Amino acid sequence: MKTSVCIIGGGPSGLMLSQLLHLKGIDTIVLERQSREYVLGRIRAGVLEHGFAELMREAECGERMDQEGEIHDGIIIAHDGEQQRVDLNKYSGGSSVLVYGQTELTRDLYEARDRMKGVVIHNVEDVQLHELVGTKPHVTYRKGDEIIRVDCDFIIGADGFHGVSRKSIPKTVLKEYEKIYPFGWLGLLSRTPPVSPELIYAKHERGFALCSLRSQVLSRYYIQVPLTDTVEDWSDEAFWAELKRRLPQDVATRLVTGPSIEKSIAPLRSFVAEPMRYGHLFLAGDAAHIVPPTGARGLNSAASDIYYLYHAMVAHYQQGDSSGLDNYSAKALARVWKAQRFSWWMTTLLHTFPDSPSYDQKLQQTDLEYLFSSDQALGSLAENYVGLPF
Ligand code: FAD
Ligand code: DHB
Repeated sequence: MKTSVCIIGGGPSGLMLSQLLHLKGIDTIVLERQSREYVLGRIRAGVLEHGFAELMREAECGERMDQEGEIHDGIIIAHDGEQQRVDLNKYSGGSSVLVYGQTELTRDLYEARDRMKGVVIHNVEDVQLHELVGTKPHVTYRKGDEIIRVDCDFIIGADGFHGVSRKSIPKTVLKEYEKIYPFGWLGLLSRTPPVSPELIYAKHERGFALCSLRSQVLSRYYIQVPLTDTVEDWSDEAFWAELKRRLPQDVATRLVTGPSIEKSIAPLRSFVAEPMRYGHLFLAGDAAHIVPPTGARGLNSAASDIYYLYHAMVAHYQQGDSSGLDNYSAKALARVWKAQRFSWWMTTLLHTFPDSPSYDQKLQQTDLEYLFSSDQALGSLAENYVGLPF
């Protein structure tokens, strides 16, 4: 097989890039290790920044998102028995975020790829990248007993944190930066009305909790748990009881509970791999960087990579201008690190760190007090939460 751009990974990053390039007449093939049902079964991000939503519209995939997504102008931070609202709209100079699930937007992207007869191949095994710095870059994969070769100009590694693309860059070239947090998030999805119209980020001595939503009938809640916990350790009843303990009294009282539709634990990690380009290979999204979920930056950081890559590819194919491709890594990483800083800061501000020295606890308390006493500090939170410009 032959294509211009071979994209490894059919998550939101890979599908979005494929769709955008297709609309500019640039041919792609997407290779995905899992079945479509499996990809659509993963419950992940829920908060989209303005730039991501714009990219969905440009990809001609924004219709359902604009109908069903909810615009949120603020978030609530609960701590020490108080609930303080951050007016995102006011403090960011008029921006907001959109609550629309990653599952739904991935479904929209798959439907668009189908509509336009895009090639997305599922259940590929043993993907390997070849000649990344040679003259004939290509990818091979196995389907059953058959080994299939895809010749291409460029390879996009959009295969998430555990994918093969980043690992194909020699260790002598790649530098990895990592921070592992001593806890995870246990998430629960339930068909219940959300407890609050706006997201509540709750700091509590027993651990952080988050009240989020997918729609007016679908709620998503998270609680901080030790890394040693497993989903089996948490019955629905135990989850709801612990969540209530960590929420302000009035919120806990009005919380509607119900059976879980999905429950999973995500460990919290900050990670960046540099550079994001190696020869004909370009990394994008979680393949190159991940953040702890606290600031809702993960998918949104993937979006800026895709934005830069999309424009660089179009300039290359349509104007013969490769400067965007040459600058991709530096440009993407500059924004990636700002999302890393914000996610680390918000995680540090709101979580309970085991064995944290009393000095650090005092700093955490002071950081919160400062936040709500300073318009500049609120402005910094708001501009980062709604997303820095691409
Ligand atoms: P992925 O979604 O991981 O997609 C990669 C794809 O590549 C997968 O489908 C995988 O099956 C495939 N693949 C892997 N290896 C191979 C291989 N060898 N060959 C072929 N295919 C392969 N982000 C936000 O912005 N806002 C939020 O509110 C938010 N909340 C989150 C909550 C949780 C609990 C979690 C876990 C994450 C959250 N995120 C959030 C982060 C967000 O989900 C990710 O950043 C996003 O999924 C990244 O998309 P991606 O396409 O780069 O990678
Ligand atoms: C969700 C996840 C986040 O990490 C976050 O900060 C806000 C919302 C969610 O899944 O709804």
